[in-house]
Amino acid sequence: MTHIVVLGSTNMDLVAYVSRAPKPGETVTGREFRTFPGGKGANQAVAAARAGAEVSMIGAVGSDEFGTRLRAGLTGAGVDTDLLRTVDGPSGTAHIVVDDEGGNAIVVIPGANGTVTSLAPGDETLIATGSALLLQLELPLSAVTAGAEAARRHGVRTILTPAPAQPLPPELLAATDLLVPNEHEAAALTGHADPRAAAGALLRHVPEVVITLGSAGSLYAARGADPVTVPAPRVRAVDTTGAGDTFAGTLAVALGEGTPVPDALAWASSAAALSVQRPGATSSMPYRPEIDAV
Ligand code: RIB
Ligand code: NA
Repeated sequence: MTHIVVLGSTNMDLVAYVSRAPKPGETVTGREFRTFPGGKGANQAVAAARAGAEVSMIGAVGSDEFGTRLRAGLTGAGVDTDLLRTVDGPSGTAHIVVDDEGGNAIVVIPGANGTVTSLAPGDETLIATGSALLLQLELPLSAVTAGAEAARRHGVRTILTPAPAQPLPPELLAATDLLVPNEHEAAALTGHADPRAAAGALLRHVPEVVITLGSAGSLYAARGADPVTVPAPRVRAVDTTGAGDTFAGTLAVALGEGTPVPDALAWASSAAALSVQRPGATSSMPYRPEIDAV
């Protein structure tokens, strides 16, 4: 079985469903409020577990009720949480508005995630056992960079989702094998709105790039090879929260199993397409047989 290690965030997602998101200064009446376990790290961990990998999660939850629920959600999904710390104070929360098109706007309060500034004892040993280390940018950059460098020392493939978008330290890029931005993050990182141009610019820093293109699928680019675009299944989205994480977690499993890149992209796109048709982040993620059936 492929073993995936995730170093990342765990948040409780507090979701308001509305017809359309309010503009600054405006109040709108929404339809429904729901809470879902989320956070980019935990989302990727659950996606990878449901896609069929053995998964370990490194990060932190708070000492509040959310923390208890978040940990239980991960263990319930079969994710090993032995190195998920519980720290005094609130868990991370994400305040999410989802509109009738399934699109979202999110404010993240890091809470416990913000206390993860470096690796803790045991983290590097665990990272060394993985076929890949999955990283995102909802933990302090110092920890993300330390994790990537630890993985690099042990020859473990590092897969970084650069979200939420922010400038990346050169040391982090230098320790990244595969960068998986969405088209907006790719544009923010490079200044190129065109995904092919953005991919070309990113390949100066990392050897492989996958840019997710929403309903248009994904683009793979590697040094010295022609870029490949793989379309996504056409579906009606009700909630796209966590779709990118579903894609990244599923992709890591396929690559860990040695699946050829175009097939891996198609499989990850199928998983993401299934997830956007259901509400919530981890709650919407498909199991392997469902992905295979697309
Ligand atoms: O990528 C989606 C995730 O981002 C949500 O689950 C939310 O927690 C935010 O962090
Ligand atoms: Na969803």
